[in-house]
Amino acid sequence: MSYPEIRPRRLRRNPAVRRLVSETRVDPAELVVPMFVKEGLTEPRAIGSLPGVLQHSRDSLRKAAVEAVQAGVGGIMLFGVPAQRDPTGSGGIDPNGILNVAIRDVVAEVGDATVVMSDLCLDEFTSHGHCGLLTPDGEVDNDSTLAAYAEMAVAQAAAGVGMVGPSGMMDGQVGVVRRALDDAGYQDVSVLAYAVKYASAFYGPFREAVESALEGDRRTYQQDPANLRESLREVALDVAEGADLVMVKPALPYLDVVSAVRAAVDVPVAAYQVSGEYAMVEAAAANGWIDRERVMLETLTSIKRAGAQVILTYWAVEAAGLLRQRY
Ligand code: PBG
Repeated sequence: MSYPEIRPRRLRRNPAVRRLVSETRVDPAELVVPMFVKEGLTEPRAIGSLPGVLQHSRDSLRKAAVEAVQAGVGGIMLFGVPAQRDPTGSGGIDPNGILNVAIRDVVAEVGDATVVMSDLCLDEFTSHGHCGLLTPDGEVDNDSTLAAYAEMAVAQAAAGVGMVGPSGMMDGQVGVVRRALDDAGYQDVSVLAYAVKYASAFYGPFREAVESALEGDRRTYQQDPANLRESLREVALDVAEGADLVMVKPALPYLDVVSAVRAAVDVPVAAYQVSGEYAMVEAAAANGWIDRERVMLETLTSIKRAGAQVILTYWAVEAAGLLRQRY
């Protein structure tokens, strides 16, 4: 019988020593909470496939934003659900469109106490549900979409947003958005680029949350889940075009991508723990199959460990509370 000389278990023997050597801590300030606001609602409404997440009314959104700030979250990412849609997604550019109104509401309520962010994409506003404008034969047209994104960016900046999140995966979108913001005098508005965004089935519940009109899929603009090198190319382009942060989405099934992106760039890396990731855990927990809070924190820790310094998650507010008790 030989005994080990080296015993890694010594550093696991009690909570104090484990805490001392813990390599990864998630800080509430690194969490961003996505929020949905629906035009015309007078009361917030539950989203069946995203238990605990709401479609907000303008009023309830303001209150939720204050609660998020009190919980210490680093940012709020706003998504708008318009009452009406059209082929060009004009509600995204209209200063009175629901997303632009919501930006104004939230900024008036919380000011600079957290980073107010907005989704910069047409899919919530188009009657066909695609992230861009269509050609007469129904293809998603890159360059006319860029012109719409430029206008949308300026409208969001005029509403007071601090950071825009172009998420439509059109080629050149970051450069066009950056130039439009600069030309309109919004040099200080930053760009969180959805640099790496896969055509993922994990977005299912989000499509319910925004009442997406999409039929078909987004595979001509979002990436093939099989590809990693392509992500590094996307990230390099976005950094060259002026992205202030780059994001990988989804998060947990793509931790190898998060890690490779972290190694490839020196801007902050974000990851979006998307609706399907959240819904799977909530559903399993509701069945009593897993410990909800432990799994929640384990997923966030893993995403951070892989290299994401900022995490978008529907659990942000609750997780911030749990993390505060823990450390
Ligand atoms: C596009 C957008 C989507 C998500 C965030 N921004 C949907 C899509 O690409 O189909 C998904 C987020 C989630 O699933 O939580 N505006």
